[in-house]
Order: sequence, then C-alpha cells, then structure tokens
Amino acid sequence: MKGKNLVLTGFMGSGKTSVGIGLSYRLKMTVEDTDKLIERREGRSINEIFAAFGEDYFRQRETQILEELTQIGNGRKIYSLGGGTPVNPQNRELIRRLGTVIWLKVSPGTVYERLKDDQSRPLLAGEHPLERITGLLESRREAYEACADLIVDVDGKKVEEIVDEIEKKLKEGIKPPVAKGETT
Ligand code: S3P
Repeated sequence: MKGKNLVLTGFMGSGKTSVGIGLSYRLKMTVEDTDKLIERREGRSINEIFAAFGEDYFRQRETQILEELTQIGNGRKIYSLGGGTPVNPQNRELIRRLGTVIWLKVSPGTVYERLKDDQSRPLLAGEHPLERITGLLESRREAYEACADLIVDVDGKKVEEIVDEIEKKLKEGIKPPVAKGETT
C-alpha cells in the first residue's frame, strides 16, 4: 500500500465529511477537509469565494492546497477532498501522491435527496438540480475512477457500514481496482 494517509474523494453529497469523521474515530487518525482549509485561509465560505472570484480562482486554491499537503509527506491523516478536485489531471497526480484514495461512489438520486435543501454548493444552485447532478457526475466518473485505490458504493448504506467496509479493506490490504480494459 502507498503512504499512510487516506484520501476520500467522491461527488458532493457522497458522504466524504461524515465518513471522514467516522474513520478518524475508528482509526485514530486526524481528518482534514480541504474545502475547510481553503475557507479558513481565504476567510470566506466556498459560496463567497465562487461569488467574489469565480470557480477558476477556487480551482487554483485547490491545487495549491494539494501541492502543500503533498509536501508534508505521509502522516496518519485522512484528507477529505472537494467533489471537483480530481477533475484537473494535475490534481489527480497530486491526489494519488497524497495517499490511499477511496472513492465514495454515489448515484445522482442519492445526491439529490441529500442536497436538495442545501444551499452551500454553488455548482448545484439554479434550475433542474437533478439533471445538473446527473450530468456533472457522469462527466466526472472517469476522473474519480482514475484516482481510486478503493471504490465503495455508498447508496443505501449508513456511515457506520461504510466505515466498517473501508476498515476491513484496509486490514486486508487494498488491491488497486482493475483498470479499464485489463483482465485479472
Ligand atoms: C465542488 C464540491 C464542493 C466544493 C465546491 C465545488 C464540486 O465540495 O469543493 O462547492 O465541484 O463538486 P463537497 O464535495 O465537499 O461538497
């Protein structure tokens, strides 16, 4: 297995924050949320950053944070990433360097149910949120897949069950998912 850090990736509403907290108790590891690191540094919420400086600025901040975190080296940390972080290929390289990457795979319907009353995601604001979620998720699927050492389906599961599943896989020693086109 790669370094000891764990990295949680997945779409908005896939449960990265709650699973990160659950894992941190279970594995006695500190959890850090890269969105929170950016918010703290900028002194603004994600919504405010998008509104004041735009998405490109936010994406630059994401890459900058990842670069810094990879410099710290391997500690016993859990990093929970923003849902769009793996879209940039440069970020994917950094994410893979950061530690063992766990993709919390979620369906559009689950995301919609979880986030329909949530106003904190600028990319889901506006009309037809389910269509937006479906389109964005589809366009990002390959980016998540390209990073993942472990894929966990989260639909219909409680945080506790997801944490159990991840812990079990870690104990077994994660085998990287088979790349597309390869056979076992
Ligand atoms: C984003 C996801 C958000 C946050 C920002 C952009 C995205 O993080 O980084 O709103 O592009 O999917 P969460 O996945 O924690 O909601």
